[in-house]
Order: sequence, then structure tokens, then C-alpha cells
Amino acid sequence: MCGIMGYVGPRPASPIILQGLRRLEYRGYDSAGVAVANQGAIEVRKAAGKLDRLTALLEETSPEGQLGIGHTRWATHGAPTDFNAHPHSDPSESFAIVHNGIIENYFELREELLRSGASFSSETDTEVLVHLIAAEYDGDLAEAVRRAVARASGAYALVAMTAHEPDTLVAVRMISPMVIGFGDGETFVASGIPALLDHTRRVIVMEDGEMVTITPQGIRMEKLDGTPIEREQTEIDWDVEQAEKGGYPHFMLKEIFEQPRVVADSLLGRLSGTDVTLEDVGWDTGFEESLEKIWITACGTAFHAGLAGKEVFEGLLRIPTEAVYAHELRYRDPIVAPNSMTLAISQSGETADTLAGARLLQERGSRLVAITNVVGSALTHYSDDVVYTRAGLEISVASTKAYTAMLIAQYLLALKLGRSRGLLDDGAAREVATALEALPEQVESLLKREEGIDEMSRFLAGQLADKDDIYFIGRGLDYAVATEGSLKLKEISYLHSEAMPAGELKHGTLALVTEGTPVIVVNTQQHVYDKTVSALQEVKARGASVIAVAYDDDTEIEHYTDHVLRIPRTMDLLSPVLSIVPLQLLAYHVADARGLEIDQPRNLAKSVTVE
Ligand code: F6R
Repeated sequence: MCGIMGYVGPRPASPIILQGLRRLEYRGYDSAGVAVANQGAIEVRKAAGKLDRLTALLEETSPEGQLGIGHTRWATHGAPTDFNAHPHSDPSESFAIVHNGIIENYFELREELLRSGASFSSETDTEVLVHLIAAEYDGDLAEAVRRAVARASGAYALVAMTAHEPDTLVAVRMISPMVIGFGDGETFVASGIPALLDHTRRVIVMEDGEMVTITPQGIRMEKLDGTPIEREQTEIDWDVEQAEKGGYPHFMLKEIFEQPRVVADSLLGRLSGTDVTLEDVGWDTGFEESLEKIWITACGTAFHAGLAGKEVFEGLLRIPTEAVYAHELRYRDPIVAPNSMTLAISQSGETADTLAGARLLQERGSRLVAITNVVGSALTHYSDDVVYTRAGLEISVASTKAYTAMLIAQYLLALKLGRSRGLLDDGAAREVATALEALPEQVESLLKREEGIDEMSRFLAGQLADKDDIYFIGRGLDYAVATEGSLKLKEISYLHSEAMPAGELKHGTLALVTEGTPVIVVNTQQHVYDKTVSALQEVKARGASVIAVAYDDDTEIEHYTDHVLRIPRTMDLLSPVLSIVPLQLLAYHVADARGLEIDQPRNLAKSVTVE
């Protein structure tokens, strides 16, 4: 989820690229760089940190030239350092590329290049691509790029240039976005429309598997197999702010709708059959064999993801797992037996309480595994292993896509442990792996349904927007999802809401349920389905207005509820990835119906770095 900007035309390229990158800063900003073709050579300037550092570098000496590429990075491979910043060059410095996304087979490609004598100056997956392009070059950049990307698999977009053809850029889109902009005698290429809007509103959006060769004279568009493509330019009428939000009214909604991509990216290159490869997890089989306990510590939404994780590790692997709020843990005196592992979950990797709780367990001998969205964040500095969640930059304070990515990270860890320790037989592992692979498509279909989940939750939000108290219930994994649904609602709508295990109602809270009290139930776990129905009957008998989240093929639920938010059927273990989506949308639409500031709710910060 990085930002890319390229320019070819009569004007100096650097300032135009820099301006475009500024417009894309909302996509990521841990390092940035530009490469400009100048008198038969390529000049690169790059720096870790926000764009201001690159701007300062360019103020010192700005490379001259009318063709160039630039990048603002949100790291997925390798820490945010000067070396890892894009653009990346080949050793002869005659080729440069910027790249967004993930090269799934980069490790094999890198090994192969190393065997043939190549040396690398970064830890990124991108650098293998520029080596391949240089190796394939025989006088035609487009052909070299075509041959190089034929060897790469993954979801990515890239722009390449070479000093040998100082008037040509080549762009490829393979799932990650890319758009071409047309000015008068100049052409732009960018990973997002906002980067283009200062210069032009005439664009062509590239589609997957397409390649574009860009020169001052115009573009040549083709499929990667060489089939030519003719496509009309379209006129964009969004302003910059609308464009940054991808046309959605708020970042939160955009991020909810990004979840199919996030789930796919989180699995990319990590799951092969039933084998799981997690690139920054380095424990050995001895550790897996001896593991006796899993601790999970986190705060807020990340903690709710951890509550689901607890059910997964215990249910699937039968490894005792304890989930503790990090702010509680840090002032306890936890009993840490040998052979334990701590999963510290944090989108930002900077939450002060999570850092302190995780450190405490680590100091007492537990192996620390970070699950985080931010490469190089504080949590990763002292973790023994890291699983990056690959959700991309999350802007909305209310976390959505990072939560689903945290779930996927835990499923992958569970599958990995289950396989290598022999806790899952072939059949069970295959069932989980197959269901995991189906998830991106299922989340996509859920969000895309005509008259579907978005409309339904908007309609129900209208009924909830003037209520005072809303209750969320569920059992097991459904309870974990209920906690997150409730938090989403309260933090952006400012309505009081509470989540509890369905069986807990009758021990007190039922006294608050009267005519019209909204109760939202998540009911996907078949082994406790009837038990949750009993709780529903209790609230219905007191006049509650019940909304359920249930599977598409559950015909029974309608008898006990007023409305049902339907999700595709999956194995119960994975249902949180689907059942959270309608609850995120419901929260969003309630806040919207109440006319609130959705992306920046009052009193809250995206990252809580103080106690
Ligand atoms: C709620 C939300 C917060 C965070 C919490 C932990 O939508 O985003 O509850 O989940 O502050 O933040 P991280 O995950 O950065 O440690």
C-alpha cells in the first residue's frame, strides 16, 4: 500500500513527482525517494522518514531531468530505512523501479540471483525485480519488464525506467492499483488518482495483467501477453479529498471495503496447500514441540482480535491460551511457566500498554511474537518473531481492516503450529486451509451483494440511531466478535453499547432489556447455536428488538429475530472474518445517521503511545 508517481514530459520531473507523492502520503509514509533520468544516467535520492526528509534532500541537490519515478513507502518487506526506500536500482545503476505490493516468490528469485553472483543492497522484495529487468534487457525496456514479471508472482504494481531509454517509463499492474494521467505533451503514472489531480483530470485506469509503455508521444497499452489494448480516457470529477478516500465519504468506509484485498494480501505467499510460511518467524521445531502455553496481550480492537485467537488456539490446537488486556497485565505479577509464547497484537506496534505488557512476559521467559501492521515499529524491535498483518496504512481511528488482518495472522500461526507439531491431521489442516483460501472471495461477495449488507445495515442503522443502549451477545467466537462490534459502535456513534456472552444476560443485564431495547446477536457457532437461541428467546420475551448476524443458509434464526444480517457460510472457526463486516457497517451507518465525525471520533487517538 505504497504511493507511486511517475512523469515524462517537458518539465523538470522532480518537483512534479514530489507534489504527486505529497498527495499520496495518506497511503504510507515511512520512507520516500525519486529517480530521475539525467544525461544518460539515473540519479536517485531517497530517505527514511516522512516526505519532508526527501524534500530537504531535493532542496540540497535536485536531480535534473524530465523523466522520473517516485515512491512513498509503507513497508511490507524490510524495515523503513534509507536502503530499503524506493526507487531501487540494479548494480550498474542503469535501471530503477518503484513498486507497490508483494512479490510472493521473491525469496526463491533472490536465492537464484545470489547463486548467479548478484548482490543486494536492501532487504526488499522489489530489488529482485530490478535485477531481473536488468538481466533481461536487450535494448527494449518493455520487453525486459514483460520477461521479468513473467517470473514473479504476487499482487503488485510497478514502474520501471532505464538510462538507456531516457524517454520511456514502463508500468505494470497486477492487482495493485495504477492509473495513467494525460496532460498536454506530458504523461503521468500513479498508484492513485489524487497524485494526478494537480495536473490533469483525463485518466485511464489500468486493469490487472496490463502493461503500459509511456513516452512523451503517448502511451502503448497491452496485456502482459502482448495483446494490444484500446481504452478511452475518462474524465475525473472528484476533488482531491474525495479522491484520497477513493470516492467513499469516509476513510472508515473505504477501509471496510478494502478488506477482501487485505485478507488476500495477508494470505499471499504464506499458504501453500496446508504449509504455512511466515517470513519473520524464526523459531525451531524444538520450541514448537515444547510449547505449553500461549499468552495473548493487546488493547482495544487488537485485544478483541486476540479474544478470537484464544478460541482458535484452544479450540483447534488444545494449547492453553490466556488473553489479558495489556494495561492489566503490566501491573500484575503473572506466573509465567517455561515454554510459553506471547502474542502481542498491535496495529501500530507503538501502544505503550501493549509494549509494557509484552515486555513483562518476555522478561519472565516467554518468547515474544509480535502481530503488527507497522514494519519497524517499537514492538518489532524487541520481539523474537513478527507476523506483519499487511493491512496497509489505516487512517480511520476506528480500526476495521487491521482487525481482520490480525485474525488472519492468528489463523496462519495456528495452522503453522498445528502442522509442525502434529496437532492437526491432514484432513483437519486441509479443511482450515481451504476455508482460509476461500475467505477473500467470500468477503468480497458479502460486500458486493446487490441490495446487500451495506444497504441492510444502513436501513437498520436508521432504527438504532436514536437508541440509548444497545447490547451485543454471542458465545465463544461469536462473543469475541460481539465485543468488537460493540466497541466499533460506541467509539464512533457515542451510543452506549455493551457486549456480553449470551449466557451472562440472565445474571443481571436482562433487567435492562425492555420493550424495543436493541439486542444484536452473532450466532454462527453450531455447537452452541441452540444455547444462544435460548438467550434470544429470553430477550424477545421482554420485548427486545433483535438483529442477528447469521449464515446465509440458516433458516431457523428468523423465528427469533426481527432482522438478519446474512453472511456466507464458512467453517465456524473462521466466521469472525465474515461476521464482523456487517457490524462494522452497522456502526458506520449509525454514526453517519447521527451526523458524527466518523474518521476522528472525539477524545480518541489512532495510536495511544502514552499510558
Ligand atoms: C478501536 C481502536 C483501538 C485500538 C487500540 C490498540 O477501533 O482502534 O481500540 O485497537 O488503541 O491500538 P494498536 O492496535 O495500535 O495497539
